[in-house]
Amino acid sequence: MIDNHGRKIDYLRLAITDKCNLRCFYCMPEDGISFKPKKELLSYEEIIRLMHLLASEGISKIRITGGEPFLRKDIMYLLSTLSKIQGIDQIAITTNGTLTEPYLDELVQLGIRSFNLSLDSIDPTRFAAITRRDSFTSVWKCYQSMINRGLQVKINCVVMDGQNIEDIIPMVELGKTDPVAVRFIEEMPFNGAGKSSDELTWNYVKIIQHIQHHFGNIVRLKDPANSTSMNFQVPGFTGSFGVIPAYSRTFCGTCNRIRLTPDGTLKTCLYDQGVFNVRDLIRAGATDAELITAVQNAIGHRAKDGFEAEQNRDPYNFVSESMATIGG
Ligand code: 5AD
Ligand code: SF4
Repeated sequence: MIDNHGRKIDYLRLAITDKCNLRCFYCMPEDGISFKPKKELLSYEEIIRLMHLLASEGISKIRITGGEPFLRKDIMYLLSTLSKIQGIDQIAITTNGTLTEPYLDELVQLGIRSFNLSLDSIDPTRFAAITRRDSFTSVWKCYQSMINRGLQVKINCVVMDGQNIEDIIPMVELGKTDPVAVRFIEEMPFNGAGKSSDELTWNYVKIIQHIQHHFGNIVRLKDPANSTSMNFQVPGFTGSFGVIPAYSRTFCGTCNRIRLTPDGTLKTCLYDQGVFNVRDLIRAGATDAELITAVQNAIGHRAKDGFEAEQNRDPYNFVSESMATIGG
Protein backbone atom coordinates (compact mmCIF):
# COMPACT_ATOMS: atom_id res chain seq x y z
CA MET A 1 0.00 0.00 0.00
CA ILE A 2 1.47 3.30 -1.14
CA ASP A 3 -0.23 6.58 -0.27
CA ASN A 4 -0.81 9.63 -2.49
CA HIS A 5 2.51 11.10 -1.27
CA GLY A 6 4.55 8.02 -2.14
CA ARG A 7 4.81 6.70 1.42
CA LYS A 8 4.68 2.96 1.92
CA ILE A 9 2.12 1.95 4.57
CA ASP A 10 3.14 -1.18 6.47
CA TYR A 11 2.35 -0.37 10.09
CA LEU A 12 -1.02 -0.49 11.85
CA ARG A 13 -1.73 0.80 15.32
CA LEU A 14 -4.67 -1.10 16.67
CA ALA A 15 -6.45 0.27 19.74
CA ILE A 16 -8.47 -2.58 21.24
CA THR A 17 -10.17 -0.73 24.09
CA ASP A 18 -10.78 2.85 25.18
CA LYS A 19 -10.92 1.81 28.84
CA CYS A 20 -8.11 2.62 31.19
CA ASN A 21 -7.44 2.08 34.87
CA LEU A 22 -5.32 5.24 35.11
CA ARG A 23 -6.45 8.82 34.55
CA CYS A 24 -3.33 10.58 33.24
CA PHE A 25 -4.50 14.15 33.23
CA TYR A 26 -3.13 14.90 29.74
CA CYS A 27 -5.20 12.02 28.36
CA MET A 28 -8.47 11.88 30.29
CA PRO A 29 -10.54 14.01 32.64
CA GLU A 30 -10.63 12.83 36.26
CA ASP A 31 -14.00 11.07 35.94
CA GLY A 32 -12.98 9.34 32.72
CA ILE A 33 -14.56 9.67 29.31
CA SER A 34 -17.77 8.02 28.16
CA PHE A 35 -16.43 4.59 27.34
CA LYS A 36 -17.92 2.72 24.41
CA PRO A 37 -20.34 -0.16 25.03
CA LYS A 38 -18.89 -3.52 24.02
CA LYS A 39 -21.14 -3.95 20.96
CA GLU A 40 -19.65 -0.78 19.47
CA LEU A 41 -16.12 -2.16 19.66
CA LEU A 42 -14.66 -4.21 16.83
CA SER A 43 -15.11 -7.81 17.95
CA TYR A 44 -12.09 -10.15 17.96
CA GLU A 45 -13.63 -11.95 15.02
CA GLU A 46 -13.85 -8.68 13.08
CA ILE A 47 -10.32 -7.68 14.05
CA ILE A 48 -8.91 -11.02 12.98
CA ARG A 49 -10.68 -10.91 9.61
CA LEU A 50 -9.38 -7.39 9.00
CA MET A 51 -5.82 -8.28 9.98
CA HIS A 52 -5.73 -11.15 7.52
CA LEU A 53 -6.83 -8.73 4.79
CA LEU A 54 -4.43 -5.97 5.80
CA ALA A 55 -1.52 -8.41 6.08
CA SER A 56 -2.24 -9.57 2.56
CA GLU A 57 -2.08 -5.90 1.46
CA GLY A 58 1.28 -5.26 3.08
CA ILE A 59 0.79 -4.46 6.77
CA SER A 60 3.69 -6.27 8.47
CA LYS A 61 3.81 -4.61 11.86
CA ILE A 62 0.98 -4.19 14.37
CA ARG A 63 1.07 -2.25 17.60
CA ILE A 64 -1.64 -3.16 20.10
CA THR A 65 -2.64 -0.16 22.13
CA GLY A 66 -5.62 1.40 23.91
CA GLY A 67 -6.71 2.67 26.44
CA GLU A 68 -4.99 -0.03 28.40
CA PRO A 69 -4.99 -3.16 26.21
CA PHE A 70 -4.76 -5.60 29.13
CA LEU A 71 -8.19 -4.45 30.32
CA ARG A 72 -9.81 -6.14 27.33
CA LYS A 73 -11.06 -9.61 28.13
CA ASP A 74 -9.25 -12.56 26.56
CA ILE A 75 -6.50 -10.40 25.08
CA MET A 76 -4.19 -13.43 24.99
CA TYR A 77 -6.59 -15.19 22.63
CA LEU A 78 -6.43 -12.21 20.27
CA LEU A 79 -2.64 -11.91 20.48
CA SER A 80 -2.09 -15.59 19.97
CA THR A 81 -4.31 -15.57 16.87
CA LEU A 82 -2.70 -12.43 15.45
CA SER A 83 0.77 -13.85 16.03
CA LYS A 84 -0.03 -16.69 13.62
CA ILE A 85 -1.15 -14.50 10.71
CA GLN A 86 1.13 -14.86 7.74
CA GLY A 87 2.77 -11.56 6.83
CA ILE A 88 2.63 -10.05 10.32
CA ASP A 89 6.32 -10.02 11.28
CA GLN A 90 6.12 -7.95 14.41
CA ILE A 91 3.58 -7.36 17.14
CA ALA A 92 4.42 -4.68 19.69
CA ILE A 93 2.36 -3.51 22.64
CA THR A 94 1.89 -0.14 24.31
CA THR A 95 0.81 -0.56 27.92
CA ASN A 96 0.71 1.36 31.17
CA GLY A 97 2.28 -1.62 32.94
CA THR A 98 -0.27 -1.90 35.74
CA LEU A 99 -1.59 -5.35 34.74
CA THR A 100 1.02 -6.57 32.26
CA GLU A 101 3.64 -8.34 34.33
CA PRO A 102 1.78 -11.65 34.84
CA TYR A 103 1.45 -12.05 31.06
CA LEU A 104 5.11 -11.57 30.17
CA ASP A 105 6.10 -15.24 29.94
CA GLU A 106 3.15 -16.05 27.73
CA LEU A 107 3.81 -13.00 25.55
CA VAL A 108 7.42 -14.04 25.04
CA GLN A 109 6.22 -17.50 24.02
CA LEU A 110 4.14 -15.84 21.29
CA GLY A 111 7.22 -13.99 20.08
CA ILE A 112 6.06 -10.63 21.46
CA ARG A 113 9.14 -8.94 22.91
CA SER A 114 8.68 -5.27 22.15
CA PHE A 115 6.94 -3.03 24.68
CA ASN A 116 6.29 0.66 25.05
CA LEU A 117 5.66 1.42 28.67
CA SER A 118 3.76 4.64 29.37
CA LEU A 119 5.59 6.03 32.37
CA ASP A 120 5.74 9.76 32.99
CA SER A 121 7.51 9.75 36.33
CA ILE A 122 9.75 7.42 38.32
CA ASP A 123 8.92 9.31 41.49
CA PRO A 124 5.91 7.62 43.18
CA THR A 125 4.38 10.90 44.37
CA ARG A 126 4.61 12.59 40.98
CA PHE A 127 3.41 9.40 39.29
CA ALA A 128 0.29 9.43 41.51
CA ALA A 129 -0.34 13.12 40.80
CA ILE A 130 -0.11 12.63 37.03
CA THR A 131 -2.09 9.38 36.78
CA ARG A 132 -4.50 10.13 39.67
CA ARG A 133 -4.00 6.54 40.78
CA ASP A 134 -1.64 4.78 43.15
CA SER A 135 -0.18 2.12 40.85
CA PHE A 136 3.50 3.00 40.75
CA THR A 137 4.64 -0.16 42.55
CA SER A 138 3.09 -2.53 40.01
CA VAL A 139 4.30 -0.47 37.05
CA TRP A 140 7.84 -0.36 38.37
CA LYS A 141 7.77 -4.11 39.00
CA CYS A 142 6.65 -4.61 35.41
CA TYR A 143 9.49 -2.44 34.12
CA GLN A 144 12.11 -4.39 36.13
CA SER A 145 10.63 -7.65 34.99
CA MET A 146 10.77 -6.63 31.32
CA ILE A 147 14.39 -5.51 31.64
CA ASN A 148 15.38 -8.69 33.52
CA ARG A 149 13.86 -10.80 30.78
CA GLY A 150 15.89 -8.94 28.15
CA LEU A 151 12.81 -7.60 26.38
CA GLN A 152 12.91 -4.55 24.14
CA VAL A 153 11.58 -1.75 26.35
CA LYS A 154 10.81 1.81 25.42
CA ILE A 155 9.47 4.22 27.99
CA ASN A 156 7.00 6.85 26.78
CA CYS A 157 7.26 9.94 28.93
CA VAL A 158 5.02 12.90 28.11
CA VAL A 159 6.90 16.04 29.15
CA MET A 160 4.68 18.48 31.05
CA ASP A 161 5.64 21.85 32.36
CA GLY A 162 5.22 22.02 36.14
CA GLN A 163 4.64 18.24 36.42
CA ASN A 164 7.57 16.04 35.58
CA ILE A 165 10.47 18.22 34.42
CA GLU A 166 12.41 16.93 37.46
CA ASP A 167 12.07 13.43 36.02
CA ILE A 168 13.85 14.10 32.74
CA ILE A 169 17.42 13.60 33.98
CA PRO A 170 16.68 10.61 36.29
CA MET A 171 14.83 8.95 33.45
CA VAL A 172 17.78 9.40 31.07
CA GLU A 173 19.94 7.95 33.87
CA LEU A 174 17.97 4.71 33.81
CA GLY A 175 19.98 4.07 30.66
CA LYS A 176 23.23 4.02 32.63
CA THR A 177 22.62 0.36 33.49
CA ASP A 178 19.39 -0.61 31.73
CA PRO A 179 19.09 -1.32 28.00
CA VAL A 180 16.04 0.94 27.78
CA ALA A 181 15.07 3.60 25.25
CA VAL A 182 13.43 6.49 27.07
CA ARG A 183 11.43 8.70 24.75
CA PHE A 184 10.26 12.13 25.79
CA ILE A 185 7.03 13.07 24.03
CA GLU A 186 5.75 16.57 23.44
CA GLU A 187 2.35 17.00 25.03
CA MET A 188 -0.53 17.11 22.54
CA PRO A 189 -4.06 18.47 23.08
CA PHE A 190 -5.60 14.97 22.99
CA ASN A 191 -6.89 15.13 26.54
CA GLY A 192 -10.58 14.27 26.25
CA ALA A 193 -11.59 17.58 27.80
CA GLY A 194 -11.65 19.91 24.85
CA LYS A 195 -9.22 22.25 26.54
CA SER A 196 -7.20 24.11 24.00
CA SER A 197 -3.53 23.99 24.80
CA ASP A 198 -1.41 27.07 25.12
CA GLU A 199 1.91 27.35 23.34
CA LEU A 200 3.94 24.26 24.08
CA THR A 201 6.57 25.21 26.65
CA TRP A 202 8.62 22.05 26.51
CA ASN A 203 9.07 21.37 22.82
CA TYR A 204 11.59 18.81 21.58
CA VAL A 205 14.35 21.38 21.11
CA LYS A 206 14.07 22.52 24.70
CA ILE A 207 14.04 18.93 25.99
CA ILE A 208 17.22 18.08 24.07
CA GLN A 209 18.93 21.28 25.29
CA HIS A 210 17.96 20.49 28.87
CA ILE A 211 19.52 17.03 28.67
CA GLN A 212 22.59 18.25 26.82
CA HIS A 213 23.12 20.97 29.42
CA HIS A 214 23.16 18.35 32.18
CA PHE A 215 25.35 15.68 30.58
CA GLY A 216 27.55 17.94 28.48
CA ASN A 217 28.18 15.50 25.72
CA ILE A 218 25.37 13.59 24.04
CA VAL A 219 25.69 11.60 20.84
CA ARG A 220 23.09 11.59 18.09
CA LEU A 221 22.23 8.03 17.06
CA LYS A 222 21.08 6.89 13.65
CA ASP A 223 17.28 6.68 13.84
CA PRO A 224 15.53 3.52 12.66
CA ALA A 225 13.62 3.87 9.37
CA ASN A 226 10.22 5.60 9.76
CA SER A 227 11.10 6.54 13.31
CA THR A 228 9.06 9.27 14.97
CA SER A 229 11.84 9.86 17.49
CA MET A 230 15.21 11.58 17.28
CA ASN A 231 17.54 9.41 19.27
CA PHE A 232 20.62 10.07 21.38
CA GLN A 233 22.94 8.41 23.83
CA VAL A 234 24.97 9.60 26.76
CA PRO A 235 28.49 8.22 26.11
CA GLY A 236 29.07 5.10 28.19
CA PHE A 237 25.38 4.42 28.82
CA THR A 238 23.76 1.10 27.88
CA GLY A 239 20.39 2.62 27.07
CA SER A 240 19.45 5.55 24.89
CA PHE A 241 16.97 8.38 24.92
CA GLY A 242 14.94 10.17 22.31
CA VAL A 243 12.46 12.94 21.74
CA ILE A 244 9.16 12.59 19.87
CA PRO A 245 8.01 15.91 18.36
CA ALA A 246 4.37 14.78 18.56
CA TYR A 247 3.13 18.36 18.60
CA SER A 248 5.76 19.91 16.31
CA ARG A 249 5.16 17.10 13.80
CA THR A 250 8.53 17.04 12.09
CA PHE A 251 8.35 13.37 11.13
CA CYS A 252 5.29 13.22 8.84
CA GLY A 253 7.35 12.95 5.64
CA THR A 254 8.21 9.31 6.36
CA CYS A 255 4.97 8.29 8.05
CA ASN A 256 4.20 4.61 7.37
CA ARG A 257 1.29 4.11 9.75
CA ILE A 258 -2.47 3.98 9.91
CA ARG A 259 -4.71 3.54 12.94
CA LEU A 260 -7.83 1.68 13.91
CA THR A 261 -9.69 3.00 16.93
CA PRO A 262 -11.53 0.66 19.32
CA ASP A 263 -14.84 1.32 17.53
CA GLY A 264 -13.34 0.59 14.11
CA THR A 265 -12.70 4.10 12.82
CA LEU A 266 -9.83 4.12 10.35
CA LYS A 267 -7.48 7.06 10.78
CA THR A 268 -4.73 7.77 8.28
CA CYS A 269 -3.25 10.41 10.60
CA LEU A 270 -3.27 10.84 14.38
CA TYR A 271 -4.59 14.38 13.83
CA ASP A 272 -7.47 13.54 11.45
CA GLN A 273 -11.03 13.05 12.69
CA GLY A 274 -11.34 9.56 11.22
CA VAL A 275 -11.81 8.67 7.56
CA PHE A 276 -14.50 5.98 7.75
CA ASN A 277 -15.76 3.27 10.05
CA VAL A 278 -14.65 -0.23 9.11
CA ARG A 279 -16.96 -1.86 11.66
CA ASP A 280 -20.03 -0.33 9.97
CA LEU A 281 -18.85 -1.61 6.60
CA ILE A 282 -18.28 -5.10 7.99
CA ARG A 283 -21.67 -5.18 9.73
CA ALA A 284 -23.36 -3.98 6.54
CA GLY A 285 -22.01 -7.14 4.89
CA ALA A 286 -18.99 -5.83 2.96
CA THR A 287 -16.98 -8.43 1.07
CA ASP A 288 -13.23 -8.80 1.54
CA ALA A 289 -12.67 -7.02 -1.77
CA GLU A 290 -14.90 -4.11 -0.71
CA LEU A 291 -13.05 -3.74 2.59
CA ILE A 292 -9.69 -3.70 0.85
CA THR A 293 -10.91 -1.13 -1.68
CA ALA A 294 -12.18 1.14 1.10
CA VAL A 295 -8.84 1.02 2.93
CA GLN A 296 -6.86 1.53 -0.28
CA ASN A 297 -9.05 4.50 -1.13
CA ALA A 298 -8.41 6.09 2.27
CA ILE A 299 -4.67 5.57 1.82
CA GLY A 300 -4.89 7.19 -1.59
CA HIS A 301 -6.24 10.38 -0.01
CA ARG A 302 -3.98 10.95 2.97
CA ALA A 303 -3.11 14.39 4.26
CA LYS A 304 0.55 15.18 3.67
CA ASP A 305 1.17 15.88 7.36
CA GLY A 306 -0.47 16.31 10.75
CA PHE A 307 -1.07 20.01 10.14
CA GLU A 308 -3.02 19.38 6.94
CA ALA A 309 -4.95 16.56 8.65
CA GLU A 310 -5.86 18.90 11.50
CA GLN A 311 -6.93 21.61 9.06
CA ASN A 312 -9.14 19.14 7.18
CA ARG A 313 -11.26 18.43 10.27
CA ASP A 314 -14.83 19.74 10.32
CA PRO A 315 -15.24 23.24 11.76
CA TYR A 316 -15.69 23.12 15.56
CA ASN A 317 -14.35 19.56 15.68
CA PHE A 318 -11.08 20.67 17.23
CA VAL A 319 -8.42 18.22 18.38
CA SER A 320 -9.64 17.40 21.88
CA GLU A 321 -10.57 13.71 21.94
CA SER A 322 -8.86 11.46 24.45
CA MET A 323 -5.80 9.59 23.27
CA ALA A 324 -7.50 6.52 24.77
CA THR A 325 -10.19 6.68 22.07
CA ILE A 326 -7.60 7.06 19.32
CA GLY A 327 -4.85 4.70 20.30
CA GLY A 328 -1.61 6.49 21.16
N1 5AD B 1 0.11 14.07 24.47
C1 5AD B 1 1.19 13.30 24.20
N2 5AD B 1 1.22 11.98 24.37
C2 5AD B 1 0.12 11.40 24.86
N3 5AD B 1 -0.15 10.12 25.16
C3 5AD B 1 -1.41 10.04 25.60
N4 5AD B 1 -2.00 11.26 25.61
C4 5AD B 1 -1.05 12.13 25.15
C5 5AD B 1 -1.03 13.53 24.95
N5 5AD B 1 -2.08 14.30 25.22
C6 5AD B 1 0.83 9.05 25.01
C7 5AD B 1 1.10 8.33 26.30
C8 5AD B 1 1.13 6.88 25.91
C9 5AD B 1 0.85 6.86 24.44
C10 5AD B 1 -0.10 5.79 24.10
O1 5AD B 1 0.31 8.10 24.12
O2 5AD B 1 2.35 8.62 26.82
O3 5AD B 1 2.38 6.30 26.13
FE1 SF4 C 1 -4.48 5.37 30.46
FE2 SF4 C 1 -2.48 5.75 28.79
FE3 SF4 C 1 -4.43 7.54 28.90
FE4 SF4 C 1 -2.75 7.25 30.95
S1 SF4 C 1 -2.22 7.95 28.87
S2 SF4 C 1 -4.99 7.44 31.09
S3 SF4 C 1 -2.30 5.11 30.94
S4 SF4 C 1 -4.65 5.44 28.22
